[in-house]
Amino acid sequence: MRIAMVASEAAPYAKSGGLGDVMLGLPSELARIPGNEVCLFLPYYKKMKTDASFKTELCARFTVSLSWRQQYTALYRLTDETPGYRVYFIDNEYYFGRDGLYGFLDDGERYAYFSKAVLDAMTVLDFIPDVIQSNDWQSAMVPVYLNAMYRAAFPQTKTIFTIHNIEYQGWANPDFFDNVLGLPGNFRGIMDMSGGVNMMKGAIECADAVTTVSETYAQEIRYPYYAHGLDGILSANWFKLTGITNGVDVRVFDPATDATLVRNYNAGDYIGGKAVNKASVQRELGLPVRPEVPMMAMITRLAGHKGLDLLCYAAKAILEQDVQLIILGTGEQRFENFFRALALEYPEKVSAQIRFDLKLANRIYAAADIYLMPSKSEPCGLSQMNAMRYGTVPVVNATGGLKDTVPPVNSDNTEGLGFTFQSYNGDDFRNAVERCLKLYTEDPEGWDILVRRGMGTDFSWKKPAQKYMDLFHRLVG
Ligand code: GLC
Repeated sequence: MRIAMVASEAAPYAKSGGLGDVMLGLPSELARIPGNEVCLFLPYYKKMKTDASFKTELCARFTVSLSWRQQYTALYRLTDETPGYRVYFIDNEYYFGRDGLYGFLDDGERYAYFSKAVLDAMTVLDFIPDVIQSNDWQSAMVPVYLNAMYRAAFPQTKTIFTIHNIEYQGWANPDFFDNVLGLPGNFRGIMDMSGGVNMMKGAIECADAVTTVSETYAQEIRYPYYAHGLDGILSANWFKLTGITNGVDVRVFDPATDATLVRNYNAGDYIGGKAVNKASVQRELGLPVRPEVPMMAMITRLAGHKGLDLLCYAAKAILEQDVQLIILGTGEQRFENFFRALALEYPEKVSAQIRFDLKLANRIYAAADIYLMPSKSEPCGLSQMNAMRYGTVPVVNATGGLKDTVPPVNSDNTEGLGFTFQSYNGDDFRNAVERCLKLYTEDPEGWDILVRRGMGTDFSWKKPAQKYMDLFHRLVG
């Protein structure tokens, strides 16, 4: 099958979050399936152009029209064949020759351009895929433009739109429709939402299938609490919607080979391996070097929906116990300040690392005993799976992908992978943390069984990739 994937970021070229990881793991796995030909399309950001480790070659130059604009475009290709799939970069100095990925006033125009340029690039390459999978609002215009203006070039191509986070939808003013998108008038209603333009809504209406990144989230986003206004559109299109829970890149997140760790380990020797990593992180972060103290960690963007208000509420009660707590991440000022202050108040117990550091993140996965993820909503979440691979037990709110990947430990500890709570409040969260701490301190054998169960669980992309293939086959017929 000929598969095109379109995204605004992908590891290792450009990554700001989970989408970037998915856009490495999923194409890699799809490309391993015999008979598949996979191409990935990305913007050519400034940072990638100046990075000597990515060698590219020019494939074509063409012009992309965007309403009244004519935008010069160059198409580059990664020369390295080792990924197993082709990686193409859309080059336009004006839109992508900037520092950083997102956060510009004209982001709407930048990604409308990108989505259209990708379709032009495929026609220039004469690469007519069976399916085009695009991701989040930044590439939401792909299925819309295809239906509106490119059908003749792609008569049989099916489109799949994947929602990684419904909170960011690509809203714009009403004049964006004529001034930027330049779509035929009969698409006005499709793009309109509450008098504005909403690109994610357009994709849901136009794509042949809509997927999201866990089974539970696919159910949740049909309700207003989770859908940020799109519940009506999703309910009307529910027949198109499938949830496919993400995997993680088990080659990258592997404590047996991870070069950032001071000692590598696997499920057979994790006790000694984690002890060495724990002592080293305690030393690095200035915490007392004590092997027996349960170490809890949270690695996250400090954003509201990550459930930080629950931790703020419960922190002091949890810190009455003999524990250590490490926070790694940046984000909203109020949370940064809270955790800085908490670390000053509890210097022996709390370390607040207010920064973005992927290597330290891996060292913490290896060092910690307990991983906290009380997200208010979580489309999938990847770090809870990484934590389990590193032998760290998750405590999570049973929502979205957290519910699908962390089944609760049952009463005799014969099943389940972590500790969960059902109702979003600080006391239930604290209760789940306390149940987890109780097992850790009172039942080392039970803890060992639980850790091994997590480390032995298959979180690879194998099964999810097969589910995408089943969907593609159903669409193509
Ligand atoms: C977004 C979601 C996260 C998901 C990731 C990859 O970042 O917030 O839950 O794991 O996308 O799909």
